[in-house]
Amino acid sequence: MADQSVRMVTAIVLHSVFFLSGASASADCYKTRHLFITAPKEMEALTGSCLQIPCNFRLKQGEKLNSKTTPFGVWIKNSPYFGKNGSVVIFNSSGTVSTYPMSFTGDLSQKNCTTLFSSLNTTYTDTYYFRVENRPFLATAECDGLQITVKDSPPKPRIEISGDVKEKESVSISCSASTPCPHSPPQLTWNLQPDSHHTMEENTDRTFTTRIQKSITLSHEHDGFIISCSARYPVNEGKDVKTSEERKTLSVSYAPKNTSVSISPSCWVSAGSRVILTCSSRAKPPVSRFTWFKTSRDAPIKVSEGDFYSFNVTDGGVYYCVATNQLGDQTSSEIHLTIGDAPKNTSVSISPSGRVSAGSRVNLTCSSRAKPPVSRFTWFKTSRDAPIKVSEGDFYSFNVTDGGVYYCVATNQLGDQTSSEVHLTIEGDQLVGAQVIVTVLGIILLVTTLVIFACWLKSRRCTKPQEDAEEDIYVNMVAIRRKRKL
Ligand SMILES: *[C@@H]1O[C@H](CO)[C@@H](O)[C@H](O)[C@H]1NC(C)=O
Ligand SMILES: *[C@@H]1O[C@H](CO)[C@@H](O)[C@H](O)[C@H]1NC(C)=O
Ligand SMILES: *[C@@H]1O[C@H](CO)[C@@H](O)[C@H](O)[C@H]1NC(C)=O
Ligand SMILES: *[C@@H]1O[C@H](CO)[C@@H](O)[C@H](O)[C@H]1NC(C)=O
Ligand SMILES: *[C@@H]1O[C@H](CO)[C@@H](O)[C@H](O)[C@H]1NC(C)=O
Ligand SMILES: *[C@@H]1O[C@H](CO)[C@@H](O)[C@H](O)[C@H]1NC(C)=O
Ligand SMILES: *[C@@H]1O[C@H](CO)[C@@H](O)[C@H](O)[C@H]1NC(C)=O
Ligand SMILES: *[C@@H]1O[C@H](CO)[C@@H](O)[C@H](O)[C@H]1NC(C)=O
Ligand SMILES: *[C@@H]1O[C@H](CO)[C@@H](O)[C@H](O)[C@H]1NC(C)=O
Repeated sequence: MADQSVRMVTAIVLHSVFFLSGASASADCYKTRHLFITAPKEMEALTGSCLQIPCNFRLKQGEKLNSKTTPFGVWIKNSPYFGKNGSVVIFNSSGTVSTYPMSFTGDLSQKNCTTLFSSLNTTYTDTYYFRVENRPFLATAECDGLQITVKDSPPKPRIEISGDVKEKESVSISCSASTPCPHSPPQLTWNLQPDSHHTMEENTDRTFTTRIQKSITLSHEHDGFIISCSARYPVNEGKDVKTSEERKTLSVSYAPKNTSVSISPSCWVSAGSRVILTCSSRAKPPVSRFTWFKTSRDAPIKVSEGDFYSFNVTDGGVYYCVATNQLGDQTSSEIHLTIGDAPKNTSVSISPSGRVSAGSRVNLTCSSRAKPPVSRFTWFKTSRDAPIKVSEGDFYSFNVTDGGVYYCVATNQLGDQTSSEVHLTIEGDQLVGAQVIVTVLGIILLVTTLVIFACWLKSRRCTKPQEDAEEDIYVNMVAIRRKRKL
């Protein structure tokens, strides 16, 4: 029972080791292992550039290098079992094979197999195996395949922000780019200050990273700022460059800003009416609490909570709000609420008073009582259709051309009032009117007289009917004579 579970554990361990190795070699390479290397399992490189492979090796316990001869290092691609399954020796430090542009920069006798792989192109993408030949020791690190991927475009740099991303905090921002070829590292530039510190550092796996770094003290204005960093990799012996870019948006938390109160309908209110005070603020994270205060002789009195405060006004007062989030609070400026009145006793005075002659100047003055004072006076003249707006301002002066009916409207923040109408009458019009009446009266008088006279003649003619025609002519003649006399 116990034996079985031990075997199972062994199987699981073997299985996971096999997975970690990432190599295509079968599990039995572990049984016959003589050579081990310490190198990254996967590496990425750029076409036209180089790749430095950090590498060290060790032999199976009990094995030794022959110090009398120079060890040769060999790189084999595709499969560790060279000569089979498509494996190809692509480099032999003896000088017999250099199909690919490689060289050992490390000292093999010191078990340093560090290799420089230069003038890379995408066809070099493959799995590579290291072999040592130092007769009688001959071994391939068959379980330690190195996957090399050569790409035409460089990897993106990485932007990192360390620390608490809040206003007033100092954070370190860095942009780093992998540096497979430390001999021609990428040039990093970004949109933070250009005097950033440029460094190349070795990672724990002895690969390299190029980095620029900057410490900044954050303010709320940095929120939403987009950091963009670009890496320019020299390729083809520095004749060209390949560029990649990364962007990152700064998200900075800050206490409330621009806290302000707005009032509806206005700072002037009529007693008993409803007002709405609204508090607005910018904060990240958003404002979690709005508190309303009314000032008093002693301490301010808390009157409400919430982003708006609506109430019926009984008296004036000074109000403000406080916006709060996790990072702090901010007090708005004060708002003064004053009880006022809409315009009252709006009236028009006219100068000169009474009748005016056509073409003369007339002054109309509008007066009104209001709190706050009237902000606008508007003059209207009535017409058959709608009233016509004729002027603005408390004083309206114009040359009269015809009569008419005028009034003014006084307006302040709390309302408006219309005055009573004033009638403007022209003297000349009255004179013409009298002449017409006199003429009409004269004609009526004449006609009446003629009719009475005619009736008197008719009553006489009843006794002498045969003289009718003569009489009619006579009457007409008399009528004409009378008219002339008039
Ligand atoms: C060669 O490849 C074949 C299948 O492609 C496989 O069965 C065989 O085990 C491989 N041989 C070695 C030595 O890896
Ligand atoms: C590497 O070169 C040496 C010397 O020429 C040779 O003996 C050896 O077989 C070569 N190894 C491979 C794997 O080709
Ligand atoms: C191996 O050789 C490389 C290239 O000469 C060198 O930079 C590195 O420090 C050496 N590594 C060790 C562990 O000695
Ligand atoms: C890539 O390298 C191979 C082998 O060295 C060579 O045949 C090929 O022309 C190269 N390709 C390019 C695009 O340089
Ligand atoms: C917010 O307040 C700042 C000063 O604190 C001011 O410069 C800015 O114009 C204000 N923004 C708005 C939208 O009112
Ligand atoms: C507040 O005033 C409005 C009208 O402006 C009125 O309808 C309402 O009843 C009033 N509320 C109180 C509590 O007085
Ligand atoms: C103003 O008008 C009110 C009525 O709206 C009236 O009682 C008051 O006497 C008027 N005051 C003046 C000075 O005309
Ligand atoms: C009308 O006003 C003007 C200017 O204010 C003044 O000169 C003129 O005497 C006034 N006319 C009358 C009839 O009041
Ligand atoms: C208005 O009338 C006055 C005299 O009453 C005259 O001096 C002035 O020229 C007139 N203005 C216009 C524009 O008719």
